[in-house]
Amino acid sequence: MRIDIITVLPELLKSPFDASILKRAIQKGLVEVHLHNLRDFAIGNYNQVDDYQFGGGAGMVLMIEPIDKCITSLRQERDYDEIIYMTPDGDTLNQKIANNLSLKGNLIILCGHYKGVDQRVRDRFITKEISIGDFVLSGGELAAAVLADSIIRLLPGVLNDETSALTDTFQDGLLAPPVYTRPAAYEGMQVPEVLLSGNFPKIEAWREEQALNRTKERRPDLLE
Ligand code: ADE
Repeated sequence: MRIDIITVLPELLKSPFDASILKRAIQKGLVEVHLHNLRDFAIGNYNQVDDYQFGGGAGMVLMIEPIDKCITSLRQERDYDEIIYMTPDGDTLNQKIANNLSLKGNLIILCGHYKGVDQRVRDRFITKEISIGDFVLSGGELAAAVLADSIIRLLPGVLNDETSALTDTFQDGLLAPPVYTRPAAYEGMQVPEVLLSGNFPKIEAWREEQALNRTKERRPDLLE
């Protein structure tokens, strides 16, 4: 898989891909992540990427021309399965969306900034609009990092058996059961006996029950 991220703030997106699981996925060649600074496609004598909105109102809007130039140059090199715009008014990201995107080959993620992008960018280029929740961030960069992480960890070979995404919360429509590690007792708090029993069918049954109870209690909507 290849992910191209278009942003006015590439420095915000460096560290998420330079640590832990995502870093290893890139090093192993399981995914390529390329950051593109929209400023490299700026226009005019003032190196412009944004401008005031027509009709008045506070906040700058990213212009269509630099984005067109950037997307067009990427498309000259390869075809893209999706061109995604990160925006609070997009479809709310969930595990199903992440699963679907993890099956694609090449993705572009466009990060909005300030008041967002000229609507014509969305009309002409964008194939999917994704929000990471009902709150507003300063820009799409952190949201893009969240989306990319949720996708990359699902790619074959990124996680090993122990960290397998198959046991993630949401993957089977349920929240994950509680987990414990050593010590078995801490200041009077005991790890549930069954987990120390070595009886794996029983442990599995306990985990399923816990997952179901936790989902009923915290996210009954997932069971509907
Ligand atoms: N940009 C600003 N807020 C956002 C959000 N909640 N999700 C995705 N992109 C955003």
